[in-house]
Amino acid sequence: MFHPAIRGKPQTARKMVSKKVENALNAQVEKEAMSSQVYLAMASWAEVQGLEGVAAFLYQHSDEERMHALKLMKYINERGGHAVVPALTKPPKDMKGIMDVFKSILQQEVEVTGEINGIVDLCLKEKDYTTHNFLQWYVAEQIEEERLARTMLDKLNLIGGDKGGLYLFDRDLLSGASQPHG
Ligand code: FEO
Repeated sequence: MFHPAIRGKPQTARKMVSKKVENALNAQVEKEAMSSQVYLAMASWAEVQGLEGVAAFLYQHSDEERMHALKLMKYINERGGHAVVPALTKPPKDMKGIMDVFKSILQQEVEVTGEINGIVDLCLKEKDYTTHNFLQWYVAEQIEEERLARTMLDKLNLIGGDKGGLYLFDRDLLSGASQPHG
């Protein structure tokens, strides 16, 4: 039995997000955490291939996705909801190649953009302008993440099968020339 002083107010008295919005945000926590997990597996694969720069880029990208999940979790709790830590599935260990990795990243980011837009839409329907405002950071972030993934794919297309080109691509990533920022 908790002392009344530490039991806190009933959830309903301090709840500022609707159940629908809370559920949508929690679903997005899972998506961001899964992105982090997938990019981590890609990073490990790249490291094993000797692509040090690509690995560094992907490890950092994985960290950023975890931060995206964490930012959502903190917001859910601040608004009186309950952020849930999701169970994650095991991502593939092996990749078909570097081009495939970046194609998957772009596909993943396009999907995330669609999911974020879906929650933005829900916020408007629910008249939850606070969450709508909070999500603008994610809207801007997705523009940047898609742009970055497309730039990387364009570079890889230019390189084609040229090993020297891939070496320079990897070295540029190691020096931080194309690091994500969000
Ligand atoms: Fe958090 Fe790359 O979307």
